[in-house]
Amino acid sequence: MDGNGTILSNTILSQLDDHRIFGGVVPEIAARAHMDHLDRLIKGAMDEAGLSFADLSGVAATCGPGLIGGVMVGMMAGKAIAAAAGKPFIAVNHLEAHALTPRLSDQSLQFPYLLLLVSGGHTQILVVEDVGVYHRWGTTLDDALGECFDKAAKLMGLPYPGGPNLERAANQCSDLDAALTRFPLPRPMMHRPDCDFSFSGLKTAVRHHVDALPPGELQMSDVAAIAASFQASVRDVVADRCKRAMDQFKKSYPAHTTPTIVVAGGVAANMAVRGALEDLAAAKGFTFVAPPLKLCSDNGAMIAWAGIERLRRGDTSPLNFAARPRWPL
Ligand code: KG4
Ligand code: ZN
Repeated sequence: MDGNGTILSNTILSQLDDHRIFGGVVPEIAARAHMDHLDRLIKGAMDEAGLSFADLSGVAATCGPGLIGGVMVGMMAGKAIAAAAGKPFIAVNHLEAHALTPRLSDQSLQFPYLLLLVSGGHTQILVVEDVGVYHRWGTTLDDALGECFDKAAKLMGLPYPGGPNLERAANQCSDLDAALTRFPLPRPMMHRPDCDFSFSGLKTAVRHHVDALPPGELQMSDVAAIAASFQASVRDVVADRCKRAMDQFKKSYPAHTTPTIVVAGGVAANMAVRGALEDLAAAKGFTFVAPPLKLCSDNGAMIAWAGIERLRRGDTSPLNFAARPRWPL
């Protein structure tokens, strides 16, 4: 990425095929796949960008939170390049990169803004006050939203990764009212006087519906109906929790005349979630910002952008920075 946020190369090598038969990510396979492919990917990205390491102003790498094997491999590669080329190293928090990505796609986005961060491992409502200044207003008490999508999809017999496949199935449902009547699902935490989430009950309710279907192969029409009912629940819960946060934001930041709500993380690619927030923002007088779909799921450009935001502030990291499996914002 150049200093203006222009993406010169954003290469992704998917490991999903290696993990699919296990129905989820296997940490040991993930770490080894990083080892096997990273050098070649970095070389490809540098070639595509037309740069050599000497041209760089800094090297950013994810240092957590996440599965520690893959994080270590990436972090050590980043540190090695920084050390060899004599460039600053920037340790990036994966969640911070999601939180700042909307400023990459919409460079007019100013602090503070309200953020719904929804990924495979996290579901949080935060105020992003500045780079490095985050106030967490809500979190999930159990499963993350992406995890709930993935588990519900697995129960419905949809292949891994479940989130996008569940969305595709829901789009095939032609009668939402009938789906909601036949497969009613709970809306956990609705109307609670906070901004927290809970998704494990929703997943369990999906299991009950699936178990109650006639034995044998699941019918695609039933799967589509359950998926549509599931997304309707998610939509309502997300809207309710964010509505509360928006009311609070207006009280906490009264001087902010053009309040903004932003969605980021893998689940931000979901059209039902985006639609819920777009409608809510319009009703509440908020501006709605969402990164383009390809910048929602994990990618290198978001890490480079977080690195640039930090580098601009002179905020670099020592080469003995330790990887962090847990690293709350
Ligand atoms: O941010 P991300 O790429 O990785 C983590 O940091 O976890 O998020 C991945 C999560 C997965 O649970 C995946 O199923 C979900 O995002 N996801 C979706 C969609 N695309 C990705 N969930 C629902 N609808 C989608 N279209
Ligand atoms: Zn992520």
